[in-house]
Amino acid sequence: MFVSFEGIEGCGKTTQMGLAAERLAGEGYPVVVTREPGGTGIGEQVRSILLAPECGNMDPMAELLLYEACRAQLIAERIRPELEAGSLVLCDRYFDATTAYQGYGRGLDLDLIERLNDAAGHGIEPDLTILLDCPVETGFERIRSRYRDGSSRGGGGTPDRMETEDRAFHERIRQGYLRLAEEKGHRIRVVDASEGVEEVYGQIMDCLHQALKERE
Ligand SMILES: Nc1ncnc2c1ncn2[C@@H]1O[C@H](COP(=O)(O)OP(=O)(O)OP(=O)(O)O)[C@@H](O)[C@H]1O
Ligand SMILES: [Mg+2]
Repeated sequence: MFVSFEGIEGCGKTTQMGLAAERLAGEGYPVVVTREPGGTGIGEQVRSILLAPECGNMDPMAELLLYEACRAQLIAERIRPELEAGSLVLCDRYFDATTAYQGYGRGLDLDLIERLNDAAGHGIEPDLTILLDCPVETGFERIRSRYRDGSSRGGGGTPDRMETEDRAFHERIRQGYLRLAEEKGHRIRVVDASEGVEEVYGQIMDCLHQALKERE
């Protein structure tokens, strides 16, 4: 099974994916975790270009194609072989992020993005997508506290290129994700991520256990 975690900056994807991975591995599932952009040697190099604040002049189409390039490599090198081997693959962001950020956020053509997502993903769709939804302000506040507390999961560092974009950009992304959830209701589950870590974790484990049961 292939599960992606999506949502705006600071909604809790990395935190929750780590907790879910630990729990599912403890239950005996062959869990593999990865992330986008990145997850391969080539992909991590492209990731550093994509997120570098000094790449602020990147053309939106160049940005889109770099994300898709990362994805093609990740699927070919890691995700497809892991799925074929029977692993339970958890991915921190996947192609819905491209629709939300480059489509709804940057305003690039949604049909083009859908075609590129399909091509770069080698036709592989998540079986389940957990969309962590919270207000943009909540996500930003969490990121600010992550910088204050560099010890937390996924923590530390300085703001990346996406995080330095304005509030309206992130609001379009949140609304874009919610629209996607309506269109792709067969695989996207919206979780209220404004709650505390434990409550959100409970909601996510319910979604995961239900999906795993359906596939037995
Ligand atoms: N439900 C929550 N309530 C309060 N704080 C949280 C919650 N979930 C995560 N956090 C904290 O908020 C910060 C951001 O969480 P995390 O890094 O998991 O988000 P993310 O969605 O992966 O962010 P990014 O988009 O930047 O990768 C972290 O410091 C984390 O400990
Ligand atoms: Mg993260």
